Amino acid sequence: MGKEIRMIQLIKGFKDILPGEVELWQQIEKTARSLFEDFGFKEIRIPIMERTELFARSIGEDTDIVEKEMYTFPDRKGGDLITLRPEATASVCRSYIQHKLYATDPVRKFYTIGPMFRRERPQKGRYRQFYQINAEIFGVDSPLVDVELIFILVTLFSKLSVSDVNTRINSLGCPECRPMFKTALSDFLTSLNEKLCSDCVRRKDRNPLRVLDCKVPSCRAAMTDAPSIPDYLCPACDQHFETTQTALSALNVPFVVDKGLVRGLDYYTRTTFEIQTSALGAQNAIAGGGRYDGLIKALGGPDIPATGFAIGLDRLTEIAGSNSTDLVKTPDIFIAALGEKSRSLAFEWNCALCLEGVKAEMEFGDKSLKSQMKRAHRLGAKHVLIVGDNEIREGKVMLRDMKTKDQVSIPIEQVVENIKAKIS
Ligand code: HAM
Repeated sequence: MGKEIRMIQLIKGFKDILPGEVELWQQIEKTARSLFEDFGFKEIRIPIMERTELFARSIGEDTDIVEKEMYTFPDRKGGDLITLRPEATASVCRSYIQHKLYATDPVRKFYTIGPMFRRERPQKGRYRQFYQINAEIFGVDSPLVDVELIFILVTLFSKLSVSDVNTRINSLGCPECRPMFKTALSDFLTSLNEKLCSDCVRRKDRNPLRVLDCKVPSCRAAMTDAPSIPDYLCPACDQHFETTQTALSALNVPFVVDKGLVRGLDYYTRTTFEIQTSALGAQNAIAGGGRYDGLIKALGGPDIPATGFAIGLDRLTEIAGSNSTDLVKTPDIFIAALGEKSRSLAFEWNCALCLEGVKAEMEFGDKSLKSQMKRAHRLGAKHVLIVGDNEIREGKVMLRDMKTKDQVSIPIEQVVENIKAKIS
């Protein structure tokens, strides 16, 4: 008896996106790309791995992402630590700095689409490899570009007929006003010591803002009366946040100010935002972002302001997916060939039709007409072309419309031209 060969399964939290599902992903990506191009964004493609230090320094050492969720390993034994990217913003900044993309014009708009990796506990809407659509604007400190980003998000969701969304915004202040808030928060946290989880007890002195982002229910309950950042904004941040709200209203973008929205990454300053939906259960954020004016400088670049967002593509496909079956393309024509000679002819026509933009399929094996018709049916082919020795002898082939069952005879010499004319 031979040894049974064990099948190798996917890694937990990873997934395949299969034909039948991928069409919706492509449609969303296409809609996003076209919208970005209309708003003057250019695509940038960045690597999937970076030096660990890039993420530690930008996302923050005390965040859940850096502390617990990164896939990090030495490049080789004893080599530098590298990490599978948990997000794209840090890499886009690194690239902007490294290639001095600010030199001719600091104002740049980038978008990038691709996989990210976080070793979170998998559940519906939360994966260890997930996909993001990112947009970043560099070199503008006007709140109008934050509004532009939010406007792009809501426009994209409306183009995709995703209606159950709400926009939440907050301001996290700047290095000028945040210390005052941190002091107030630290004082509050000292009074809570007993009620906080062990992570928060550790983080409260090093990075008290992270406690505001803790998901542990007892911490959340303890934080209900915590001081909130917008109450401590300096006049410049206050003005920035006010203008953001006025401009959103002028564009008729509905939003709510959520004073508890701190986001899970350390680099944010001033306006942050999240688009949430009630259609997804616990993992309700389909997009998040905000301003990160200090990050480019903190990564060794010039002092250039920046703002951006990322959409969770996996989550978006889960709520934009109701009409996805309409997107699956079926063959325009299936060529049923009987016998060796017909198959060679069919193969030439098949290739020529595909080149002409007619979606053609054929049977490569020696199968009966009945079984080929069954396959054409299964594939959802709109037409079937039947060719065998008789047809070759008579110089004519039969084209059958699978819906109306009408059949027409086509001269063999002009098969490709005729089919193209009939089908398109
Ligand atoms: P983020 O909030 O960490 O922000 O992620 C953005 C979106 O990615 C989330 O709203 C969610 O839809 C999706 N997402 C995050 N983690 C997972 C997961 N484990 N499984 C499925 N989807 C997930 C950022 O990543 C920032 N870099 C956004 C940004 C760009 N800020 C400024 N520029």
